[in-house]
Amino acid sequence: METINKLISEKEIQKKVKELAHQIKNDYNEEITVICVLKGAFTFTADLVRAIDSNLKIEFIKVSSYGNNTESTGKVNLGYSTLENVKGKKLLIVEDIVDTGYTLKALAEYYYSLSPKSIKICTLLDKPERRKVEINVDYVGFTIPDQFVVGYGIDYAEKYRNLPYIGVVHLDDK
Ligand code: IMP
Ligand code: MG
Repeated sequence: METINKLISEKEIQKKVKELAHQIKNDYNEEITVICVLKGAFTFTADLVRAIDSNLKIEFIKVSSYGNNTESTGKVNLGYSTLENVKGKKLLIVEDIVDTGYTLKALAEYYYSLSPKSIKICTLLDKPERRKVEINVDYVGFTIPDQFVVGYGIDYAEKYRNLPYIGVVHLDDK
């Protein structure tokens, strides 16, 4: 089993979401196509878009790289996507965490190949210490140390996505 220690409270998250939404709204004067990276970003995206008071559309893409352990395999699988036509659109990719950077690099390369008007990236959490590939992130909620976190959409072996706060996972002995 594991113990979860609170790292970022619900209140801190909600405050940050509003700040990010405000920044995003001010940076765009055209319709935004928000791409929610499943599954981890579903909670963040739902809160973020409700705080952005301008024209936007929401799309989803399923990405996996992790399996059920806590280390990135470096191999990224792009799965089901709801977005059919990317040409000319202003994309805002919304992620839960940037860790090694492999996932966002693969996603950004994929979308660039489809000729959008622009691509920006927004992540709730950033673990810069863990970066393996360089990736330019436009909006970052919280920079966190190299610890495995869960909650607010983020899982450990598919558990804890429903926690309203972000917590650090501690694996108990045996
Ligand atoms: P990257 O490709 O290594 O940047 O990893 C990005 C993905 O790994 C994130 O979208 C998460 O799904 C997962 N991930 C990275 N760190 C954590 C963590 O601390 N807890 C849960 N999932 C994580
Ligand atoms: Mg993810």
